[in-house]
Amino acid sequence: MKKKKALITGISGQDGAYLAKFLLEKGYNVVGANRQNTGSSLWRLKELNIKEKVKIVKFDLLDEKNINKIIRYGHYDEIYNLAAQSFVDKSFSSPVYTSNVNAIGVTKILEAIRNFSNKTRFYQASSSEMYGNVKSRVQDEKTNFQPVSPYAVSKLYAHWMLNLYREAYKLFCCSGILFNHDSPLRGDQFVTQKIVKDLVKVKLGLLPFISLGNIYVKRDWGYSQDYIEAMWKMLQQEKAEDFVISSGNTRTVKTFINKVARKLNFKIEWQGTGLNEIAVNKANYQVIVKINRSLFRPTEVAHTYGNFNKARKVLKWKPKTCFDDLVTIMCEAELAKYK
Ligand code: NAP
Ligand code: GDD
Repeated sequence: MKKKKALITGISGQDGAYLAKFLLEKGYNVVGANRQNTGSSLWRLKELNIKEKVKIVKFDLLDEKNINKIIRYGHYDEIYNLAAQSFVDKSFSSPVYTSNVNAIGVTKILEAIRNFSNKTRFYQASSSEMYGNVKSRVQDEKTNFQPVSPYAVSKLYAHWMLNLYREAYKLFCCSGILFNHDSPLRGDQFVTQKIVKDLVKVKLGLLPFISLGNIYVKRDWGYSQDYIEAMWKMLQQEKAEDFVISSGNTRTVKTFINKVARKLNFKIEWQGTGLNEIAVNKANYQVIVKINRSLFRPTEVAHTYGNFNKARKVLKWKPKTCFDDLVTIMCEAELAKYK
């Protein structure tokens, strides 16, 4: 049987690397789209021992002409668009850039598929951030969106545009509304990886303390490798639909800190409130967590909590890795780097 061919944009990111590994194991011919010329940005592929197995093409979501060329001549069975300006905090300082990449960039891909490759199946990395400040405690495919960051607005634009292309032009496209998912390959700027890396440094005496913003927000955190499978499953269905992918649980950033601290054998005590809240290492009374006003966002998603029932029923998907195991996997991977 002919090998399926897939294009993954955002190949240098966390999900791109895991998805490439997953598709290679399924026997796909994998092409990775990368905006940088330097091989150094592909360290995650090296880490997974697959760098030589993925063909890399130059690709930037800002460059329409090149997107048309890649999609027109690539003859892809499936395209997974994981590329994005993915850091919510940065979207507040760069809203125009974020919109150009995350919103207009996706429209360029949809247009290229419609004009040159209309049998290609398309997956778009949508986000729970799109729900913003909805009142409902749990969010699913029917929950209204109320985005509160330029990132979320840009992702919602792409989500609606994809729905329009599915309806108007009958393209096979799916929007995966993924809740936070992390791993040892997570970027350093995201809160889970920042907490793990910095608390390990504090443990080893390489950093006095860690500074954080709002630690009372709640997130539905899962493990990236589990979520990759759901992306692929969406494109194997008879009918193109959108799906929520989540862990079905929610926890505060403070709970994440407490779990990491326990894993690293810190005994900590929280003292004070608001901007004066601190965590103290009870072994030596050193302050190891401080709150920093500059790390708060202008507007914030207070909680995310996803209901993945539709994915369970239709895709036969459910998460395999629980929150405690995610913390363990991330801490152990970080500690291993110092051995
Ligand atoms: P990530 O590690 O930040 O990776 C983002 C990727 O996008 C990187 O490969 C980056 O390339 C690429 N990129 C950025 N700007 C680009 C541009 N102008 N043109 C082409 N590529 C560009 O993100 P991730 O965690 O793997 O997430 C993958 C996707 O899922 C993203 O779209 C994100 O918004 C979405 N998402 C993530 C989560 C989550 O919790 N992880 C949840 C919901 C949705 P460089 O290496 O060159 O910067
Ligand atoms: N990054 C960061 N750094 N976040 C902090 C910090 C800090 O020092 N202190 C508190 N937080 C809070 C943020 O305000 C946010 O509420 C929460 O921790 C999680 O922040 P991030 O890890 O940056 O993730 P995110 O939820 O904003 O966005 C991630 O998940 C989305 C899915 O909901 C990204 O992966 C997005 O691309 C993704 O769409």
